[in-house]
Amino acid sequence: MTAPDPSRALSDLRAFSSDPLATMQRLYRENGTLSQLGAEPMRFWLTLGTEACEFILANSHRFSWEQAFTALAPLTGSAALLVNDGVRHRHLRRLVAPAFTVRRVSDHRDTVVRHIEAAVAGWATDDVVEVHVPLRRAMRLATVESLFGEAAMRRSEGLDDWLHDIHRAIDTDVLGGSLERGAGSAVWRRALLARSSVHRWVVAEIEQRARQADPGRDVLGTLLRGVDGTRLTDDEITDQLISLLEAGAETTAAQLSWMLYCVLREPGLWADVRAAAGGPAATTAVGLDHIVSETMRLYPATAIVSRKVATEFDLAGRRFRPGDLLIFSPFHTHRLPSVWRDPERFDPSRWVPGSERYHRPAPYEFLPFGLGPHRCIGATFATMAVTAACAALARRVDIELLTTNVRPKGLIGMHPEGGITVRVEEKH
Ligand code: HEM
Repeated sequence: MTAPDPSRALSDLRAFSSDPLATMQRLYRENGTLSQLGAEPMRFWLTLGTEACEFILANSHRFSWEQAFTALAPLTGSAALLVNDGVRHRHLRRLVAPAFTVRRVSDHRDTVVRHIEAAVAGWATDDVVEVHVPLRRAMRLATVESLFGEAAMRRSEGLDDWLHDIHRAIDTDVLGGSLERGAGSAVWRRALLARSSVHRWVVAEIEQRARQADPGRDVLGTLLRGVDGTRLTDDEITDQLISLLEAGAETTAAQLSWMLYCVLREPGLWADVRAAAGGPAATTAVGLDHIVSETMRLYPATAIVSRKVATEFDLAGRRFRPGDLLIFSPFHTHRLPSVWRDPERFDPSRWVPGSERYHRPAPYEFLPFGLGPHRCIGATFATMAVTAACAALARRVDIELLTTNVRPKGLIGMHPEGGITVRVEEKH
């Protein structure tokens, strides 16, 4: 393929930063699989379409996460899963995974429900409420309690703001360059300060827990207990917990807001959710799991995922060399007309086996949690949390959506810009 025009690559980068989805759709139409954006030190390749996703899925050994995210290590910690490769990554992941089995995750369902119910307790009929911010706080508290236990959650004042500051820096730096960081930009400096506050808080919680005879059944307890006599060091546990907090809280809250937005726009679907949440009274083949999948298809909270090339390969007529940065996009892939019929339409029935629109996606066609060895370790937790939260809301309130035509904001933790405003019609 011919070398891209540098001024075009820069203007495409600006377009991508302000409207990622429309720009990816245009670039895919114009260039196919590969489009180069930006200039050194902020140069990357958008790799779009199923050919690219399938290649990346099948060739994870050709990429390095450590190199892709090394710039984020001061925020995540050097032992965080996302910034490690190979043997060390496998060792860390083996010791973290037991905290996220289906069984362990289901222990946290009641915690999520309790925090959502507390969030809606103060709402009254006819109130007009922006829900993203209070539900984000509820999901953050539920995540903290699931990771550290109830007593720690009660001591967690301040964490919300610190995590938000860290998340903002990660989101602006997601392309692995220095889009807005510069030499110590305000966003980056604030995030580093917030990280040291979170670090102090987490270390104090670990010390407190170490004094107890029983480590407990939350994530911290599971990490302290270890696997077959091996456990992470205290520093490694600290880095895991900080990065789990960073990776989990904003993304799950964003996914919940998108779920509300999608459901409330469809006449009658909120009543179906309440029926499904209540159990056997359900009258429709569409279940909560189909609604969650369809929301994650249209609005995956992690809109793009990056990879750094570790060993040379050819893709779509171009030779890639170590150090090249590739971006693929669940957001774009999930709206490909070649894969999804009527892709812009929210239609949970496309997930119901036997229905006319049913499509069982290949692994590289549906990737809300990424793919390969670094696939989201919190996927089961996130799916449980948005499902339980939406069901709890539907059992407690009838709400009408007032927000129209919301714009997605952010690429990691993509959420509705300006939030979601509803009117409370009735409380149950
Ligand atoms: C809807 C919510 C969530 C979404 C959309 C999401 C998405 C993702 C994606 C796309 C990746 C990268 C995979 C790759 O590079 O191929 C990832 C990794 C990760 N996620 Fe999530 N995530 C969510 C919730 C969570 C939760 C609740 C936790 C933990 C409490 C979590 C912890 C992590 C961690 C630790 C990694 C790195 C795994 C590794 O490097 O081995 N995420 N997530």
